[in-house]
Amino acid sequence: MQHLINIMDLTTAEIDELIEVAKDILANPEKYQDACRHKILATLFFEPSTRTRLSFESAMLSLGGNVLGFSDSSSSSSAKGESLADTITMVSGYSDIIAMRHPKEGSPIVASEHTAVPIINAGDGGHYHPTQTLTDLLTIKTELGHFDGLTVGLCGDLKYGRTVHSLISAMSRYENVRFVLISPQELKLPSFVKQTYIKDAGLPYIQSTSLEDVIGDLDILYMTRIQRERFPDEEDYLRLKDTYILDEEKMKSAKRDMIVLHPLPRVNEISTGVDSDPRALYFKQAYNGKFIRMALIMKLLGIKI
Ligand code: NCD
Repeated sequence: MQHLINIMDLTTAEIDELIEVAKDILANPEKYQDACRHKILATLFFEPSTRTRLSFESAMLSLGGNVLGFSDSSSSSSAKGESLADTITMVSGYSDIIAMRHPKEGSPIVASEHTAVPIINAGDGGHYHPTQTLTDLLTIKTELGHFDGLTVGLCGDLKYGRTVHSLISAMSRYENVRFVLISPQELKLPSFVKQTYIKDAGLPYIQSTSLEDVIGDLDILYMTRIQRERFPDEEDYLRLKDTYILDEEKMKSAKRDMIVLHPLPRVNEISTGVDSDPRALYFKQAYNGKFIRMALIMKLLGIKI
């Protein structure tokens, strides 16, 4: 049984295949409408979500399957003190596949030890978010056609941003990728990502506190929200929250074919004036999320069309 806990659980060949299936679903959705008939997806969200949970549910419904779950841990038995292990043991008897989000790093690994069905990590604390990365990769492949040789700028909260951690690890496996890490000193990329996926992989990177200084070098600008809920001290969040705001003025210094991605939700870090720029792809990226999740659900359930 295969789970998806870390994006590195998938080979690059498996990722390519998921992207191809997602593109086929986008082009021919009716071909897949009964692919998961009588299958049940459980979405267990112990942390807030809009896109990730709804795109998982929409994905399963569009495959002809059913969904159950909760979107608020206060309405589940964890509020009564039930352990994650017990919740998973029970839910895996009610469903064929589980997508879970949890504030605690590593909790999907615990879940994978107590389940009879595949587990998908839909975000574990400040750690990883592999299905967002699949969404990002589908968008990059569709828009730019390749992963090799790209200069990838990641801007904002590189410390707590789990989407950043997963995207860097995935991109580190392609040829001649360069990273530009843009963050305040306090929110630099943690060493569990930097050491393993950039330094040990021998990839070139630069760190900058200024977006203006480096925007002109980038093929991809991945903007992120400052992760308020992970700050031990609210004062620090308030001081750092508006460090980077991408606006129309800054976009003038970017390459004409640079793409702007953002996992969403956005707070202030991209001004709405940028939304109409053809390089702003974050809403398309969110749209893509449903289709790559359809491909992933089918893969983990062993269903081929
Ligand atoms: C991200 C997350 O949950 O990590 N959201 C998402 O799933 N699209 C990014 C964020 O919350 O900032």
